[in-house]
Amino acid sequence: MSFVDEAVEAYAEAQTTPAADHLRRVADETAQELGSAVMLTGTVEGRLLETLVFAVQPRLVLEIGTFSGYSALSMAPALPDDGRIVTCELDDVRADFAQRHVDAAGLGERIEIRRGPALETIAALDGPFDLVFVDADKGGYVDYYEAVLPKLADHGLIAADNTLAGGRVVTGEDDDTARAIATFNDHVAADPRTVQVLLTVRDGMTLIRRA
Ligand SMILES: C[S@@+](CC[C@H](N)C(=O)[O-])C[C@H]1O[C@@H](n2cnc3c(N)ncnc32)[C@H](O)[C@@H]1O
Repeated sequence: MSFVDEAVEAYAEAQTTPAADHLRRVADETAQELGSAVMLTGTVEGRLLETLVFAVQPRLVLEIGTFSGYSALSMAPALPDDGRIVTCELDDVRADFAQRHVDAAGLGERIEIRRGPALETIAALDGPFDLVFVDADKGGYVDYYEAVLPKLADHGLIAADNTLAGGRVVTGEDDDTARAIATFNDHVAADPRTVQVLLTVRDGMTLIRRA
């Protein structure tokens, strides 16, 4: 999932506050039960998301792509008292798994898993979104961006994951994911409504705000 030098990645993780025990359990059980554990954000990005929540103090976080719940569970402890996360998941097995871990962590009141296509969930929500974490199908990123931007709070942030596509947007390799991410990156870069910064954390995370 990352093309950053492995030793650098390991050093970054070693110098990052370790994940809470329940998050390590989620990661382990994800690998055992769901596979595709490479999809979950992990310690460094989880801490980055938690830090964004700590700084932004969002009342409403929208997450697009729950998977096993790792990123939502990473963000939730830093929410303000009246803050909550709505997270979208298409796959019932993954949503069931995530719900189990959300309940076990006692965060059922803070994290709501909405099942079904994310675009339908977004359309049903009024916002304003104080923080949006985009981490679902890469071919949908432009549509997610266009759907959430009108509902983004004035000081809201969109964080889009995997915006380096394993480095393939740089090397120019041609596959569906790299093409979709390159299209998204170019779309955002050309949009006068927003200002963005692409962070070279893990597989790339772009932070986007209103201009
Ligand atoms: C990369 S994983 C999310 C990882 C999670 N954010 C984390 O870091 O732990 C992407 C998830 O998005 C879900 N997904 C894909 N397309 C979707 C859609 N159209 N609507 C809702 N969820 C979708 C997939 O089933 C998958 O579980």
